[in-house]
Amino acid sequence: MIVIAHLSDPHLDGTDVARDRLRRITSYLKAFRTPVDVVLVSGDLTDHGLAAEYDELAAELPADVPVLVIPGNHDVSAPLRAGLADFLDSPGEAHPIHQVREVAGARFVLLDTSVPGEDYGLLTGGTLTWLHGVLQQPFDGPVFVAMHHPPLDMHHPVMDQWPLRAQEALAAVLTGKPITAILTGHVHNAIVTSFAGHQVLGAPGIRSTIPLPFEPPVPNRGMLDPKAGPGLALHIHYPSEPLQTLYRFP
Ligand SMILES: [Fe+2]
Ligand SMILES: [Fe+2]
Repeated sequence: MIVIAHLSDPHLDGTDVARDRLRRITSYLKAFRTPVDVVLVSGDLTDHGLAAEYDELAAELPADVPVLVIPGNHDVSAPLRAGLADFLDSPGEAHPIHQVREVAGARFVLLDTSVPGEDYGLLTGGTLTWLHGVLQQPFDGPVFVAMHHPPLDMHHPVMDQWPLRAQEALAAVLTGKPITAILTGHVHNAIVTSFAGHQVLGAPGIRSTIPLPFEPPVPNRGMLDPKAGPGLALHIHYPSEPLQTLYRFP
């Protein structure tokens, strides 16, 4: 059995409210009778991409289990690499931050969909060529593709301004590949859908939730519901069985 704790969008910004919401998740994980095998944080790690914010996150992340991180549109590559070097597979300042990591018998293809200075997501042609090669490599175990921007249209007037672009080209690469699930963040919602024949599992936003237009309005007519509890996904893989995902809002 492999248990992945999938966290997303903590948006740490030096405030108590952001830190406390992340701590609701990390304290829940800390109390597990058996620790999870790996923690994945799928982007918007910080709110402004500042060095101090990455230092804060590094101090908050669990120290006793492997932690994987990927950037989101609120992140900035150079300070992320400097502040979270212990959680990455290579040093440097370069953008984008793509990684292929093997943890607990699973392979994680961690894609950086962020575009410096922009909020939409994009995987370039060069990245897609590389991804095609990675996904053709045989692997005896589950393979997860993780990225911040999910390949979907949310049908939300604001969030749809910042989608993952060039989804058709990504679909062409992912179709038919041996992928257990695509793990995403960005839309601040526990969301389950499919793309290119694969399951897409989005983790809730730790910092806030974004209701859809038909849901009850949030106070002050804002886009974010900061009161909805922070949550996470637990992806549980048993050999030869379909993936099981639990959503928890501790
Ligand atoms: Fe976010
Ligand atoms: Fe985002």
